[in-house]
Amino acid sequence: MENKRTAYIRSIGRFLPEKKLTNSDLEKLVDTSNEWIVSRTGISERRILEPGLGCSYMAVRATDECLERAGVSPEELDLIIVGTVTPDMLFPSTACLLQNMIGAKKAWGFDLSAGCSGFLFSLSTAAQLIESGRVNKALVVGSDVISSLIDYTDRGTCVIFGDGAAAVLLEACTEPGYGLLDFNLHIDGAGGEFLCVKGGGSLRPASHETVDNGEHYVYQDGRAVFKSAVTEMSNVSVEILERNGLTGKDVKLFIPHQANNRIIEAAAKRMGIEEEKVIVNINKYGNTVSASVPLALYEALLERDNPPVKGDYLVLAAFGAGLTWGSTLLRWWEK
Ligand code: COA
Repeated sequence: MENKRTAYIRSIGRFLPEKKLTNSDLEKLVDTSNEWIVSRTGISERRILEPGLGCSYMAVRATDECLERAGVSPEELDLIIVGTVTPDMLFPSTACLLQNMIGAKKAWGFDLSAGCSGFLFSLSTAAQLIESGRVNKALVVGSDVISSLIDYTDRGTCVIFGDGAAAVLLEACTEPGYGLLDFNLHIDGAGGEFLCVKGGGSLRPASHETVDNGEHYVYQDGRAVFKSAVTEMSNVSVEILERNGLTGKDVKLFIPHQANNRIIEAAAKRMGIEEEKVIVNINKYGNTVSASVPLALYEALLERDNPPVKGDYLVLAAFGAGLTWGSTLLRWWEK
């Protein structure tokens, strides 16, 4: 275990659409209030991509920043994984579109659909391909234009979600005991019905009926999702510490999926992590699905005082449609 090759996060980039949708904007669209949204979710505003632009548009911009920061050219990439539930189109994959747009001539890749756990599952997959020695440079992107699936007359969902993208560059860590050390990932299809888009797939292809029924919008049973998210995101975050002989006190930063402030607080409390070690940006961006964890990581690395330094432990955690959930333990490493 000690001498195993691991992956580490070498660079990061992000893209956030300029247009802000505030709680007071939503008060004009549905029967809600700023007070309700802030107290029940922690969200004040979210970003919305302008119509006519897709998932790949944001993915390219996040990737450009990520690769420029590292001084790596797209031609050097071996692998591209895009975590998304809102690809530009059903096929080809957004990974293929992105590969072509940036000119990553030798990369292969694919999209990974795991709801709000999309980035974490993609990160785990790419890290294990790096561990195997088959891949040296992997780009992992979380990009979602979730506004394209939201019914802005449904107050249960429209207040929660926002658009965004972020990308990380993974490379092999050459020092044992550092980098992405452990993943604890789960799915449970029995909970799939609580958060889904019923129409537009092979079972319910687009028709006048599916459109009239609103089947192309996100359907959510908020209470059921909330209950599972609180339990499962807390469990996996505690488990990953325990099985690596760590406690909350050893963790420099906890970087959770930004779905609801109350879910984040519950997980941090179970882990015994103080508030100042928890990255929260849900107030500015809402739930950005696959982009949520890497956007929070971006803030942790580039926008906060006292960013992680070599040897610091970070825990990333996510929960999403599927149901899907998981956590990652990483020990920060820099060349
Ligand atoms: N504004 C005002 N009232 C609202 C509202 C809104 N935007 N959305 C729901 N309500 C109402 C409900 O209709 C309900 O009214 P009722 O009691 O008269 O039926 C009441 O508020 C409470 O609804 P409930 O669903 O129990 O609220 P909640 O405290 O669970 O908060 C969510 C709702 C959606 C914010 C919460 O369930 C949640 O965050 N769920 C998880 C969502 C999530 O994480 N999804 C993505 C997973 S990755």
